Amino acid sequence: MVIMIKIRGLKKRFGTNEVLKGIDLDVKKGEVLSVIGASGSGKSTLLYCINGLEPIQDGYIEVDDTRVHDRNTNVNLLRQKLGMVFQQWNSFPHLTALENVALAPRIVRKKSKREAQEIAKKQLSHVGLGDKLDAYPNSLSGGQQQRLAIARALAMEPEYMLFDEATSALDPELVGEVLDTMRLLADEGMTMICVTHEMGFAKDVSDRVAYFHQGILEEVGPPSQIFGNPTSEHTKKFLSKTR
Ligand SMILES: Nc1ncnc2c1ncn2[C@@H]1O[C@H](COP(=O)(O)OP(=O)(O)O)[C@@H](O)[C@H]1O
Ligand SMILES: [Mg+2]
Repeated sequence: MVIMIKIRGLKKRFGTNEVLKGIDLDVKKGEVLSVIGASGSGKSTLLYCINGLEPIQDGYIEVDDTRVHDRNTNVNLLRQKLGMVFQQWNSFPHLTALENVALAPRIVRKKSKREAQEIAKKQLSHVGLGDKLDAYPNSLSGGQQQRLAIARALAMEPEYMLFDEATSALDPELVGEVLDTMRLLADEGMTMICVTHEMGFAKDVSDRVAYFHQGILEEVGPPSQIFGNPTSEHTKKFLSKTR
């Protein structure tokens, strides 16, 4: 399989605090990688580095053979390939769901108003919000707002989706509908990196699971290995606490 995201020797520091200590990782086309680990282990920082939102100090990240942190790289163009969904996504409260999703296609991708609205309708139905086109974000549940966030990312027709704890801020009863939407994308073949605390999702949906410990990629492998037969003591300890 083709490697789509290639990370080698990645080091990231905030001041003197080294939060990624030499990461090597590949993500292949169509692969779903779940990233797990304690708070502060560097998971979010990894996503921000992939997206070019954070500078790095050593090593490199390639997305489709383009080095994210190269001086000559057009990061804005590259970022269009990488849809990102955060823990809490603030949609524009004065815009309807349809207008929220149509915004980026219209502004960034220069689509006509009509085209942008067609894309928005399509992606809102995709995430199960086909009946909420005219709803304002504040009238939606947290789960619906997260699905709106996913629709907004998908409207840019990304090659990759990066999820940073997309369900962590939700009431427990709303988690399932968002995970179902993520599962749907995975089934459709989307290449995904999902930082998550949902071990059920990591186990059932991912092709591989990466466990981060204090800025180190401690262990990566298929869910059967990570959950069934982890080799690292740190992984074992972390998993024993989460179950
Ligand atoms: N913008 C920042 N400035 C300084 N330190 C940061 C910044 N973002 C994250 N950190 C530090 O980097 C480490 C890793 O953070 P993070 O990537 O958010 O971990 P995780 O997502 O696994 O909880 C933490 O020690 C955190 O305090
Ligand atoms: Mg985080």
